Amino acid sequence: MDYFQLTDGAMQAEAVALERIAAEVGTPCYVYSAATLRRHAQVFQQALSGLDNPLIAFAVKANPNVAVLKLLGREGLGADVVSVGEMRRALAAGIPANRIVFSGVGKTADEMKAALEAGILQLNVESEPELRHLSAVATALGKTAEIAIRVNPDVDAGTHAKISTGKAENKFGVPLDRIEALYAEAAALPGIRPVGVAAHIGSQLLDLAPMQAAYEKLGALMGRLRAAGQSVTRVDLGGGLGIPYDPKLPLPPSPAEYGAMVSHVTKGWGVQLMFEPGRLIAGNAGVLLAQVILVKTGAAKSFVVLDAAMNDLIRPTLYGVYHDIRAVRPRDGEMRATVVGPVCETGDMFAEDRAITPVQEGDLICLMTAGAYGATMASTYNSRPLVPEVLVDGGHYSVIRRRQTLEELLELDQVPGWL
Ligand code: LLP
Repeated sequence: MDYFQLTDGAMQAEAVALERIAAEVGTPCYVYSAATLRRHAQVFQQALSGLDNPLIAFAVKANPNVAVLKLLGREGLGADVVSVGEMRRALAAGIPANRIVFSGVGKTADEMKAALEAGILQLNVESEPELRHLSAVATALGKTAEIAIRVNPDVDAGTHAKISTGKAENKFGVPLDRIEALYAEAAALPGIRPVGVAAHIGSQLLDLAPMQAAYEKLGALMGRLRAAGQSVTRVDLGGGLGIPYDPKLPLPPSPAEYGAMVSHVTKGWGVQLMFEPGRLIAGNAGVLLAQVILVKTGAAKSFVVLDAAMNDLIRPTLYGVYHDIRAVRPRDGEMRATVVGPVCETGDMFAEDRAITPVQEGDLICLMTAGAYGATMASTYNSRPLVPEVLVDGGHYSVIRRRQTLEELLELDQVPGWL
């Protein structure tokens, strides 16, 4: 459910016409709906309301804009971060340190130090060497790091191979059969206090069964750890719940169905549960607004060439995934077109030979469901500056990241004196 809808023949974000944003901010630009972000946060909270004091830590990687984080922080969400940069953003957005969890397979000593100095809630440790590094860093600072050990449960999430993280061959987490030894080592190490276990098996999951299987493995593991005399007070169940991208496909499981599954599996665990949703909160809260530069008839196909490209939204190029394409002011009828950007790569393609509403030169279109893993994965490939982000709230909007200028791009390069 989102708040991008047709009103009087043209698409609006809440009560603001996208044509107005295009005229005032320029295209391409990302447009987010505050009401949709709030709604998604509330729907997820509601779905978990039967649990005892869960912590919902928004996966900052999905949309790290500080204004977005501030809005979500106000809704009571914490932050799941994977770099010192993401941690800085969460703190800058006013998210309290005690609602921040730091994940990731390769935290540097500097990142560990920054996390401990900021006093964040928990670091999720993903390997034996990382645990030992963290112990050394914490001891040198005279601090104690509360940690969860991320388990690789060897479960097939049934999602795209590039966003599957819970199989034995993936780089993430520690194999299940080594957790008990590592937990005991953690309990004995200076500067470390193990508080629990974590898992995240992948993203855009369309089936609850693999998640349930992973959570059941965590539950059994927790029992074994406790039987061995360890204390387990928190379990982090990660993110990954899928969202609808293609209106023609069946809907993914709802947050309520997910919440019911979690309540059922974790009954009697006696821990604080943590969650790290990213896409579910932000995905359908954003669109990439673009303009048609021209429509070109090739030998075999018609091409709609947009001013947005793979550098602005890389998901279709990288994963071959579907983003719905809608005209901002739809015309009658239908056309078949391959929708591309101007970047010099054949893979710079948003849709191949797809039936869309007819568009002409100068028309505005939206690439839907671009609020998660959109702007954050952008690059300046082909020396195309990063595009603005706009946040709409009711009848008004603000630019929450301005367009990068060509001067800023050029400024980063340095030509040595010897040239
Ligand atoms: N927690 C951890 C440890 C993660 O690695 C991720 C995502 C999440 C939480 C959030 O997952 P979500 O709820 O958003 O599914 N760029 C890809 C997605 C990569 C996800 C990486 N990890 C895409 O555009 O589909």
